[in-house]
Amino acid sequence: MKLRRIIPALLFFATMVGGLSPNEAWSVSGSCATCHVMHAMEGGTATPSGGPLSYLLRNTCLGCHQGSGAASAPSGTQAPLVYFPTSPDTGQLAGGNFYYSDSATTGSTASGTPSMHKGHNPIELTNHTDLAAPPGGGTTLKSYDDTDYVGNGGAGWAVDTLSCSGVYGCHGKHETNGMVGTHHNNVTGTNVDGSTASKSFRFLYGIKGWESTDYEYSGGDYNVYYGVTRANDTAPAATTAGRQTMSYLCAECHGLFHSGAGDDGISINGATYATTPWIRHPVDFEMPLNNVSKPEYDAYAHTTTVPVASSDVTDGTITVASASDRIVMCLSCHRAHASPEDAALRWKYTDMVLGTVGAGQGNGCFACHTAKDG
Ligand code: HEC
Ligand code: HEC
Ligand code: HEC
Ligand code: HEC
Ligand code: HEC
Repeated sequence: MKLRRIIPALLFFATMVGGLSPNEAWSVSGSCATCHVMHAMEGGTATPSGGPLSYLLRNTCLGCHQGSGAASAPSGTQAPLVYFPTSPDTGQLAGGNFYYSDSATTGSTASGTPSMHKGHNPIELTNHTDLAAPPGGGTTLKSYDDTDYVGNGGAGWAVDTLSCSGVYGCHGKHETNGMVGTHHNNVTGTNVDGSTASKSFRFLYGIKGWESTDYEYSGGDYNVYYGVTRANDTAPAATTAGRQTMSYLCAECHGLFHSGAGDDGISINGATYATTPWIRHPVDFEMPLNNVSKPEYDAYAHTTTVPVASSDVTDGTITVASASDRIVMCLSCHRAHASPEDAALRWKYTDMVLGTVGAGQGNGCFACHTAKDG
């Protein structure tokens, strides 16, 4: 779709007005002219300069959703900022910062240095460099569940590229015009039931959750990601809760990372569900609580650095003393967009050393595996 093919304009207008405080999650507000242009032209000048955009927009996804990196970012516009071209370490929101993955550098690099391995590389990024396919998902578009995989009907990851939205995108429905009717109908609170793209967690079609009002910028409130403790290792059936989790969103492209119908991740072939040894790190799995043989998990304390998912997204709180509020998910360890660390990790993997008493203590793996540090 045209929307994602155009080089984004560098700056997003700071003139957006509305009744809400800056950066508060809700439907868009302000005058139509702020965001739309009727004839792809103003005063005889082509607007936007790259050519007309879908839905008569003045800007691309990345054009609106990037910021200057000022200390006060992301205030100033209502749009949550996911890319800080000049000052990467300020104002990072819950999803992370594409600054770190906007690089053609393919090797793994030091913390904070941009490289394609610091996260996702959607085509909208200037320096996007792609892995051939989502690891775990395969190049043939066969994924976690063949009836609901991303890129359905497309030619495959070898020729198509990850994008913010669309057939090969994350936001909206996974189809060409999958991001329509979202911004003007955004809901929050318990209305985020996944029934439409606008009613889905951050427009991720079908996914539920409780949305932090400022995307965790101030630390005042936090996202509660939806998780379900699965009863077996088969792919969740259509319309079931198992398809509404954050981990399922990832699995729509990453397939095996979420396990599958062939005992691909939960346990070894033919073995019983949910017994050790695990052959991939569990997700959508409830952390043991008051289990005498696994006491280390009792000490987990909820933190936005190492969050867990919950089966209860009717409010914005997680009470980890409740079993259903302690569900391991992909975003327990990864940022959704990109981070200063390889594989978009939320913390430095190199800090995770047995017996650690320094910076890594209590963080990352140790937040849950509490008996493994110093
Ligand atoms: C702050 C930015 C912003 C403002 C202000 C804005 N829009 Fe939009 N509008 C968008 C975006 C972004 C989309 C495309 C993606 C989507 O639908 O979520 C869109 C899509 C639309 C669509 C197609 C999808 C739908 O929901 O029907 C219509 C029609 C539309 N806008 C009309 C208007 C009108 C009329 C106004 C002024 C009263 C207006 N917009 C003001 C950002 C804005
Ligand atoms: C729409 C498909 C899609 C979805 C949904 C998706 N990914 Fe990815 N992911 C990809 C593709 C394609 C790549 C490889 C190309 C790239 O890095 O952009 C990738 C790469 C990655 C990488 C490796 C980055 C690197 O270069 O080493 C990680 C880690 C990752 N994804 C995690 C996640 C997590 C966590 C989620 C859920 C929040 C998720 N992905 C959801 C398509 C997707
Ligand atoms: C014209 C500017 C503009 C464009 C273009 C635009 N957005 Fe937005 N976006 C906004 C604003 C303003 C908000 C905050 C208001 C809201 O949540 O609807 C927002 C909110 C969002 C949110 C958070 C929704 C939530 O539930 O809190 C997501 C996700 C998002 N946009 C994705 C996209 C994607 C993907 C595209 C490209 C297809 C896009 N946006 C294009 C201005 C824009
Ligand atoms: C317990 C923490 C943890 C969880 C949960 C987790 N990951 Fe990872 N993931 C990692 C770490 C650490 C790495 C990098 C080191 C490694 O690969 O061992 C990684 C690497 C990756 C990679 C890159 C693989 C490659 O080939 O380089 C992808 C893709 C990925 N994870 C996706 C996911 C998805 C999708 C989920 C959820 C279904 C998930 N991860 C859940 C910790 C986790
Ligand atoms: C959000 C909590 C959480 C985080 C963070 C986490 N784990 Fe885990 N991990 C678990 C749970 C829960 C299990 C499964 C326990 C069970 O089998 O009852 C597990 C299982 C494992 C296992 C397999 C154990 C077995 O019995 O087969 C290994 C190995 C492991 N984790 C390593 C790591 C490493 C390394 C990291 C950091 C990169 C990490 N974990 C981060 C919660 C977590």
